[in-house]
Amino acid sequence: MTIPDTHHKSCARLCVLLALLLFSLSPASIRANETADSTSNNFVVAPYLQLGDRPSLTDPESLTLLWQTIDSKDNWSVQVKDDGARRWKSQAAPKVQSVELPGNGPRCFFTGQLTGLAPGKPFDYRLLRNDAPVFEAHAQARKAASQPYRFVVVGDCGTNSAPQRQVANQIYSAKPDFVMVPGDIVYNNGRLSEYMHRYFPIYNSEQATPDKGAPLIRSTVFVAAAGNHDIDVMGRVVARDLDLFPDGLGYFYLWSQPLNGPPLVSGQANTPKLIGLESHQSRFLKLAGPRYPRMANFSFDYGNAHIVVLDANQYMDWLDPKLRTWLEDDLASANNAKWRFVCFHQPGFNSDLGHFIEQRMRLLSDIFERQKVDVVFNGHTHNYQRSYPLHFVPAKRERAKPGEQINAVPGTWTLDRAFDGVTNTHPDGVLYIVSGAGGAGLTGTYQAGNQSTWQEFTFKFIAPPHSFTTCDVNDKTLIVRQLSADGDELDRFTITK
Ligand SMILES: [Fe+2]
Repeated sequence: MTIPDTHHKSCARLCVLLALLLFSLSPASIRANETADSTSNNFVVAPYLQLGDRPSLTDPESLTLLWQTIDSKDNWSVQVKDDGARRWKSQAAPKVQSVELPGNGPRCFFTGQLTGLAPGKPFDYRLLRNDAPVFEAHAQARKAASQPYRFVVVGDCGTNSAPQRQVANQIYSAKPDFVMVPGDIVYNNGRLSEYMHRYFPIYNSEQATPDKGAPLIRSTVFVAAAGNHDIDVMGRVVARDLDLFPDGLGYFYLWSQPLNGPPLVSGQANTPKLIGLESHQSRFLKLAGPRYPRMANFSFDYGNAHIVVLDANQYMDWLDPKLRTWLEDDLASANNAKWRFVCFHQPGFNSDLGHFIEQRMRLLSDIFERQKVDVVFNGHTHNYQRSYPLHFVPAKRERAKPGEQINAVPGTWTLDRAFDGVTNTHPDGVLYIVSGAGGAGLTGTYQAGNQSTWQEFTFKFIAPPHSFTTCDVNDKTLIVRQLSADGDELDRFTITK
């Protein structure tokens, strides 16, 4: 059929555009976007892998699988089979918690376990609803100490921006064994409703395309440190205010990570009190279980590395002897690991003037140096920065008085300027990487090309473009690369032992 006159053609186009606009603003379309994949009839959040409370390598290995549905009347089961095998092996019945979080409607939070996995070996898993398979994915067990591995570091990501989706797709192309997020997982306040728009649809997209994201988290384990936007403050807004954000603190119920950090008690040292009605608090506590507040600090092994994830938010007193002893002992006990990595949100060594003053994590540099930490990965500033390998001695080590906050930590650094990561691959000191260009609007862009604004310890400062870090570990060699959202290599260095 032809439309004879151009006026009618323009009207028709306008009507279509209006209809699309109205649909895009309707609650129905928001729900459709939240679950914009072929699994939407079965899941409100499609299955995604987690490490679970498994700090150490084991043989066989296990992983945790989380998913969410709207109603609880169905019978769900999980099966696993080795790559190439024919027989599916039934897993233990998943656990379920039914909770209605305001703004999200009724939810059933499922937790299943994938067990009997050969270290580093690929496998398939599937979910059955009332005995009918409804979801299947391919994944890989955590690697053993003898196996080479690749991990990605990307922070400050969950905004549902075009660069976040491009970066997600590029990470998918890089085929990492696991992904580590150094905080600010979702903006602005770490809420489930924000994960629904800014995390799950992008990292668990049905298709891998630069404009959508990629089916990453169903097949690749993500671990995360908690940033200020996840569990602390953004200006005067407090993420722990469960009256303001009844679905807040998603970090503690949407992630399942090791619970081997220092024991903490809400309202006591290093954990501010929850805010909100008793009913809001008890609903959150029931959902989070033992994960709150302990899961904000933990460590785990992957391949031949020991990795520590820390809470660097402003309420943490990392001069507290109990915390320091835990960290020192944890790193010291990993004496079999060839590599030691640490991940947290707010960098101690950073040249971005936007967050330059938040230097309190420098107070851990003595432990990192004593315990031979190789690389510290941070976010918070939305760019890429690489330091020289360095040693640092603070001018003083005084704990903050109650109600005070430590910001500036002056001191003396010694830089290994001879290390270039190409011909000299033996750093003297700890390398500090900021990889916070995963999706949020970039910061410090005017500084990147203006070296006079950098601190003496900064070796590289890149923004734009949006980017992420890949780390390839093969026995005693580590190759670190910074890749752009288009896959271009922005930086590269090698460390050898
Ligand atoms: Fe941040």
